[in-house]
Amino acid sequence: MTSQQDEKEVYTPRRPRQGSEKTSRSILQMIHNPHSNSARTSKVLWPRVIFFPILSLGCQAVNETRLQEDSDKPLERFEPAPPEVLTAMLDAAQVTSADTVYDLGSGDGRIVIQAARQYGAHGVGIDIDDQRVLLAHERAREAGVETRATFRQADALCEDISAATVVTLFLSLRGNPRLEERLRTHLRPGTRVVSLLPVFTGRKPERTVRVRAAGKEHTVHVWTVQGAETSPNLGPFVPTPMPIVRLMLEMAQVGPKDLVYDLGCGDGRIVIEAARTHGARGVGIEYDARLCKEARERAEREGVADLVEIRHEDVTLSNFSDATVVALYLLPKSNELLRPRIQALRPGTRIVAHDFEIGDWKPRETREVWLRDNTERRIVRLWHVGE
Ligand SMILES: C[S@@+](CC[C@H](N)C(=O)[O-])C[C@H]1O[C@@H](n2cnc3c(N)ncnc32)[C@H](O)[C@@H]1O
Repeated sequence: MTSQQDEKEVYTPRRPRQGSEKTSRSILQMIHNPHSNSARTSKVLWPRVIFFPILSLGCQAVNETRLQEDSDKPLERFEPAPPEVLTAMLDAAQVTSADTVYDLGSGDGRIVIQAARQYGAHGVGIDIDDQRVLLAHERAREAGVETRATFRQADALCEDISAATVVTLFLSLRGNPRLEERLRTHLRPGTRVVSLLPVFTGRKPERTVRVRAAGKEHTVHVWTVQGAETSPNLGPFVPTPMPIVRLMLEMAQVGPKDLVYDLGCGDGRIVIEAARTHGARGVGIEYDARLCKEARERAEREGVADLVEIRHEDVTLSNFSDATVVALYLLPKSNELLRPRIQALRPGTRIVAHDFEIGDWKPRETREVWLRDNTERRIVRLWHVGE
């Protein structure tokens, strides 16, 4: 955070150099429920016609559930930003000729072209609609910036955006939450993210600028990507249902002498329950600052704050070598990634995982549980290090 945090100011545009312009919350289901919302896009106006498919196609993984949930909500009407607002966004991000500006959902290319023409930056526009991409190319050529402004027909949720030093979003409220995860995990520290709408949950923007244009007030927000936000995403936040939490602790035979780690602890429920009902000490590791706060508040509320520590860390960089029990509810590939470190723990350390295996490591015990009137299947597995 900089000294500009929470700064609010009324914006005076810089003068242009050359003119201007209800699903289950199980991760299993997240992964196995592919679907498409694209049929609805025909009913909406530009630029939603561009943005909605960008955000609803491809990347058939953890974003699926969010997309499904959102598809039930009505689409709000979108109004394109006036040129002053685009200038305010680029000014607020303090764009210079050294920057590479990625505009996600670039439409006719106006932000990228303005970044190239007015600020001398390089720009990349990403849009799912090939006609818009062609139009943007044409406009860049007309503006004489085609060497600095390029456009790609691609899905912003899948495209490599790691070369960006500035990301601009002029997306509807529906778009930003779905992009949040990608921005957190794919951008380099120091990259500025500029948006008219909130992007990073639980994190105030470093800079907020108001601009009046066409009789309306717009608010531009700027965030700078921090180190933790570039950590690998081992799994989205999907809490383990409490009956499964209790079963995990029971299978691991957690007791007062134990030190229970939850790798990717979310709201801290597993370590808090271990402390509350088994008297164990617990350490929850979580890279999402908002969830860390929630977990600490939960530990306070449950009266176990003295037994539970929540660390705001990346699991892949954290030290959990003193664990006697490790709880996991991460994606299969994340379990696989952590396997060497888990198997290097002290012999006899109990590992208990919700739903997913740890590669081909054979568990000593597997229990299947059906929840919600026998409609939702969950699996809990137990391993002992050294077996
Ligand atoms: C499926 S949730 C599990 C939450 C909790 N363990 C439970 O079972 O209720 C996975 C959690 O891992 C966190 N996570 C993902 N990648 C992480 C990383 N690299 N470092 C720390 N936490 C991470 C997510 O933010 C999320 O809260």
